[in-house]
Amino acid sequence: MTQVKMTVNGKAASGDVEGRTLLSQFLRDDLGLTGTHVGCDTSQCGACVVHVNGEAVKSCTMLAVEAEGAEVATIEGQANADGSLNAIQQAFQDHHGLQCGFCTPGMVMSAAALLKENPKPTEADVRHYLDGNICRCTGYHNIVKAIMAASGQDVSAIAAE
Ligand code: FES
Ligand code: FES
Repeated sequence: MTQVKMTVNGKAASGDVEGRTLLSQFLRDDLGLTGTHVGCDTSQCGACVVHVNGEAVKSCTMLAVEAEGAEVATIEGQANADGSLNAIQQAFQDHHGLQCGFCTPGMVMSAAALLKENPKPTEADVRHYLDGNICRCTGYHNIVKAIMAASGQDVSAIAAE
């Protein structure tokens, strides 16, 4: 076992892990942050996306030991300080960007990373960026709309689905 230390959602976190322990496993099983979902473990679904040092990462593709010393952000740290939904989360709610919710943490984390690098994405930009996030329920339309709305763009011309 190896001790790992990192900062998760602004707080120091540590634990003893095996060399093969995935970051997703460490977050869920050791830290109890089960908002990071695991849909495939094979780097396809994007339900496990977190931020590592500000970059969106599929946490099932990274070993916990590789995150030694890193700043990690998960869905649990995304709400505003007063506990209210942040702009992206609120937009998902307002525009029906979720149904079962399984993909949602990964979608929100990917959306946050997208809007950081591209604050006013086009619909095509959003669809391209979400290439690595699978949703089995929504057909993606309302997710794309929610992310564009979260960026402050008028989405009233985009048809509802
Ligand atoms: S659980 Fe990581 S991409 Fe599916
Ligand atoms: S809302 Fe069910 S998988 Fe996306």
